[in-house]
Amino acid sequence: MTPQRKKLIVGNWKMNLSVNEASLYLHKLADRIPVRRNVEVVLAPTLLALQPLSLQVNRRQFKLAVQNFYWRDNGAFTGEVSAYQLQSIVQYAIIGHSERRYKFHETEKDIRNKVQAAVRNRIQPILCVGETVSERSMGETNDAIRDQLISGLANLTSDDLDMLVVAYEPVWAIGTGDNAKPSDVTDAVKVIRNQIKQLYGAKASEMVRVLYGGSVTPSSAADYLAVKGVDGLLIGGASLDSHDFTEIVTKAHNSNAVKI
Ligand code: PGA
Repeated sequence: MTPQRKKLIVGNWKMNLSVNEASLYLHKLADRIPVRRNVEVVLAPTLLALQPLSLQVNRRQFKLAVQNFYWRDNGAFTGEVSAYQLQSIVQYAIIGHSERRYKFHETEKDIRNKVQAAVRNRIQPILCVGETVSERSMGETNDAIRDQLISGLANLTSDDLDMLVVAYEPVWAIGTGDNAKPSDVTDAVKVIRNQIKQLYGAKASEMVRVLYGGSVTPSSAADYLAVKGVDGLLIGGASLDSHDFTEIVTKAHNSNAVKI
């Protein structure tokens, strides 16, 4: 039987909005976006806002995600926050985002340790993978995706796979307005599911939710949601506009049941 994977829309607010602004914005979204059985909506505010928002939020309506954390559970790591400390506050963690990989020089080892730390603390990892513009121009897109997946998942067993979400985010498409063609996304999602199949078997590859992210707008959302094997979207810029984000969630609600 083909599994029905619940659609997932994630809004990554990045380093935007103060704590007060984040709280007001959550109120606004809560008024606009109804609870829907076929779509899960996840918000990733600044770390500072997570705790107050976790008290404010209706968890049936929105889940929360952390944008970054350190992979050890506790210890002498001045300035860091762990998945252990976040476990009652967030349900998801964005890991391996290209801004972390390339602006903060996170290594493959950091990323795989974070994926493992999230799972250990019952937080669902959203592992971001995607090629740079030079990898793309050299025809290395598929290899880049495979390498990041193999490395990022190296500490997970097949029992952990039901928690995993993978986001395909071509680096050249993030925040640039230069979005991938749905046919590029079709190919990348195939590579992702095939790699998971090779590592963990067919059942796992059908269970894992795969998102697309990179300059998604309300007008492009439906095209990506229609791609076979895509279960949702990771939204940056458009998640900071309540009209745009609401429209994207509505598009997910209206898109056909997700099939392999
Ligand atoms: P964008 O960001 O939608 O602004 O391109 C996507 C992301 O960073 O995940």
